[in-house]
Amino acid sequence: MTGSAVDQSIIWSDDFLIGIEELDYEHRCLIEDINKLYRELREHVDMGRAKVTLGTIYSRIQSHFALEENVMVSHKYAHYAQHKSEHDHLLDEYTERMTKFDRNPNLEDQKAIEDILRQWIVDHILTSDKKMSLMITSEKRT
Ligand SMILES: [Fe+2]
Ligand SMILES: [Fe+2]
Repeated sequence: MTGSAVDQSIIWSDDFLIGIEELDYEHRCLIEDINKLYRELREHVDMGRAKVTLGTIYSRIQSHFALEENVMVSHKYAHYAQHKSEHDHLLDEYTERMTKFDRNPNLEDQKAIEDILRQWIVDHILTSDKKMSLMITSEKRT
């Protein structure tokens, strides 16, 4: 590995837990795949492999958003529309960059993908997903 390569791995901690088991499980799997992608891109092992992982992450995000949106709808979550629009925006951005990178691997799109995934994890899970879970689980108790 070269000296300039930066390890951007996301370290899983309980701070990521939102308290809804199936969603927590998926968040954890997603973070594992993101770390795998970072490793593959960092080590320049095989661009074909990184492209496969990009596709795996895309499918994972898509099915995760669908599950999470079902949970919100079934609990009549008040901020559903706003949360769904965040999902749509993230998936659109990811899809656009993934497609460009797939056609022509380049550093600009690679950096953008890494940023989107980091933002997704750090910002979205820690703020929007947590807020949603808190409201849903507190309703259950009342
Ligand atoms: Fe979400
Ligand atoms: Fe989520």
